[in-house]
Formats: sequence, structure tokens, C-alpha cells
Amino acid sequence: RSASLIVDPAFRIGAVDPRLYGSFVEHLGRCVYQGIFEPGHPSADENGFRRDVAELVRGLDVPIIRYPGGNFVSAYNWEDGIGPVRDRPARIDLAWRSIETNHVGLDEFQRWAAAVNAETMMAVNLGTRGIDEARAIVEYCNHPSGTAWSDRRRANGAAEPYGIKVWCLGNEMDGPWQIGHKTAGEYGRLAAEAGKAMRLVDPGVELVVSGSSNSRMPTFGTWERIALTEAYDTVDHISMHSYYQQHGDDRDSFLAAAVDMDQFIDAIVATADHVRATGRHAKRLTIAFDEWNVWYQSRFPGEENLPIAEAPPLLEDVYSVTDAVVVGNLLISLLRHADRVRIGCQAQLVNVIAPIMTVPGGPAWRQTIYHPYALTSRYGRGTVLRVEARSPAHDTSAHGEVALLDAVAVLRDDGGLVVFAVNRDQHEEMAVDIDLRSLPRLVAGEHVAIADADPDAVNDQHNPERVTPRRLGDAKADGGRLTVVLPPLSWNMIRLT
Ligand code: AHR
Repeated sequence: RSASLIVDPAFRIGAVDPRLYGSFVEHLGRCVYQGIFEPGHPSADENGFRRDVAELVRGLDVPIIRYPGGNFVSAYNWEDGIGPVRDRPARIDLAWRSIETNHVGLDEFQRWAAAVNAETMMAVNLGTRGIDEARAIVEYCNHPSGTAWSDRRRANGAAEPYGIKVWCLGNEMDGPWQIGHKTAGEYGRLAAEAGKAMRLVDPGVELVVSGSSNSRMPTFGTWERIALTEAYDTVDHISMHSYYQQHGDDRDSFLAAAVDMDQFIDAIVATADHVRATGRHAKRLTIAFDEWNVWYQSRFPGEENLPIAEAPPLLEDVYSVTDAVVVGNLLISLLRHADRVRIGCQAQLVNVIAPIMTVPGGPAWRQTIYHPYALTSRYGRGTVLRVEARSPAHDTSAHGEVALLDAVAVLRDDGGLVVFAVNRDQHEEMAVDIDLRSLPRLVAGEHVAIADADPDAVNDQHNPERVTPRRLGDAKADGGRLTVVLPPLSWNMIRLT
């Protein structure tokens, strides 16, 4: 098969906000306990955080991490997690039917996030709680001193304010499973008033209003319109969540999951812009795609069937080569919308639908999906360029006709160019002719790919390097043209300097 791309700096989509490469740590399963935090582990630091896990997190170059939920936040009392650990209450986490010991709270998390070079994106509880708690937590985190809450933070060891910038106004409040689930009107009013109070405490905050839990929700679209009608002036971003999995043996549809992500983003942009127009608002909202990933939800028994336990292994999906190719393609979709998507959070970071896995007392390793995420995060920074693509297409049962090649380019501030490309054809390789005549200085580089004779191959604790990116060779442009051959079912990075 053959395809072509034209890369031209004139086809500018927008600058990449580094926060596109964010992640998510929820008090869920073994993400916090036995994940990032395991006192007694041979690699634990003086605060009980695993150094080996922190090292793998740093390898992802994650600029922002959403915390502490997720569904967890909707019945969480953040005050339970501050002060001397021995005084903290253990509680039942209603979202995941787990015992929350509160041994890790926002102060510990904040210190850990700083150590992995990430800022925190904090979610407030708008399920069981409201305006008062929301303004109190901002005061605790961001007010310098001289008030009850800011002085409590200082007493707990943080003399300087944390300066947490991005705040989520609740989580998935449209979902009937959410503790404190609300109608769009109820939620929109509460988000507007909580957000107003939070901004009065710290005018520098960026606020994220909760959009639909996914695009299959019965209230999808209407939820956004009503909630935004109430809260538009108060907020900066609207959240999006989407998870993908292969259904049955329909791998072609799964490999085209990014088509769904593209359409979903376009729909939310249209809805937000509709509210902007009808409300005569000046500002344009941007998107925080603060939960996305491959997640085999069909394997999850449902939280109502879980026995209550401490740090139970939940949602510990093991990812294949195919999953890694889809993750790489979802990152291409996010980049393609860099003009409107400012924040992205792969959900989640450790053990729970995660790029990093751990064994208690044992090793930590990279799942397959770690690799496209790390490479896109490291090299996909600069200005996103639309690539004019010509590609063969095929039919899929979930998305109709889709292109077999999907690609995007990033022009880096150092003058280099990176093309991220996916070959969705499971069986045939694809020769791609890249027209670089507008960038004559770029002649040489490398081609790295994730592809394998076994598309179901995985990494595990015994064979953690089974699937890694492979260097396919040098990329050399000749007369402004470069031809690369993408293996079947592959994610590719062509990097020219
Ligand atoms: O990431 C797992 C869960 O998925 C989150 O808690 C929730 O927000 C979403 O439904």
C-alpha cells in the first residue's frame, strides 16, 4: 500500500500546551497505595514513595497530574488527609468500595508531584459537598498565610502556598453512578457558585467544568449546553472523558478509535461555541480531556459487586502492542486539536489502567502503552501542523470508512520536525511519501516504531522489555521528499533534525 503527506509550516493548527501530556492519580485500587506509595518497599524514600516508580513517571515527562479523583472525589473529605497521619480517619470510599486509610493526602501528594516535576490539577468534591469546602481547599493550598486554612497548611509543613492553578469542579456529575449525581441545571448552578468563590480566594485559578462522562450518555450534548449556560463566564475549560477497547474480534474498529475521539472533540467544541454565541460571551472555552485511555471496561464486574477491601487490585488492564498503537493514535488526535485541547490526562498513571505497573515489594515496569506516550510527550512539543494526507481507506463496522493512515506533525521550537503516524492496516505495510519541500533544511533523522509480529504481545514483570520501540532506520530526505515504510499495525515516529 502507499500513501502521501504534505508537511508545510503554513498549515498551522496551534501551539502544543505541554499540559496535553498530563496524567491522573486517583485513590483507586493500587494507584496510590502499592503504586506510587509503599512504605517498606526497598526503593521507598523517607516519605514512603517508591523511587523506582517516580523514576518511571519522570520518564514520561508528565507536566500535570489530576488528583485525587475521579469518582473517588465525589464523597471525599479532603480534610481527612491533612495533619498528623496517626490522627487521620479510615473511611469507606463509596465510589470503589475500598478502605481509604488517608495515609496519603494532598500535602503528601503535592510533595510527590513536585518531585516528579509535575503540577497538580486538583478536583473538588461537588457530589456530597459544595461551595464552602471548595473555597476552603483553595485557601488551604493557595493563600499565603494569616488565615485559619493557610496557617493549617503552614503548620503541616508547607510554608509557601502551593499555587495550584487548575481545579476541576467535581467529576462526571452527569453519571447516575456518581455520589451526589445531579441534573445539568443543578450542577451548572453549583459549579458556577463554587467556581466564583474559589476565584475570589485566588483570582489566578483555571477552572474546569465537568462535561459528559462519555459521548454515549443519554444527556450528552444537552448536559454541556445546560451546564455551560449556567457556568460559562466562571470557567476556562470543559472536561471530556473517553475510554476505548476492542469489542470481540473487531480489531479494525478498535484501531480507528481516534476517529471517535476526533468527532467527540468536534462535538464539544461546537456545543461550547454555541453557548458562547447564544450567550454573547467574548471568551472561547478550551478543553481539558482529563480522562482518556484504552480501558477494557467489559472485564470490570461493576463497583457494586466489589467486596470492601484496602488497596484492592482494580482495573489492572495489561496492554498489548495493539493497545499501544491505539494509545499513540489517540495522542495524534489530541495533537490535531491543539488549538482547543489544552489539557489531556491519560487515565491513570500507576496500576489502574496505567502505563506503569508494580508488584508490592517487587519490581515496577513499563506497559506497552508507556512508550508512545513517553515519546510523544518528549518530542511532540512545539507547533502542530496539519498534514495533507492521501491514504487508502477501508470499512469498519463502528466508524464506517476510515483512512488507514493517520498522522500529524509537530514543528519543534529547535527547528526539528516530528511526524507521528499510525498504519491501521493489520496485514500490509504502507509506504508513505512525505513532501517536505517547504522545509528544505530538514534532511536526516530517525524512524522509530511500535510494531510486532504478535500484535497481542505484552510486557509483564518477568519480561518487562518484550515490547519496546524499535529504531527502523535512518530517515533521509532527498530533494524535499522522504519515503518511510510503516509496518502493519504500527505506531511510528519520524524525527528529523
Ligand atoms: O478512571 C477511572 C474512572 O473512570 C474514574 O474514576 C471516573 O471518573 C471514570 O468513570
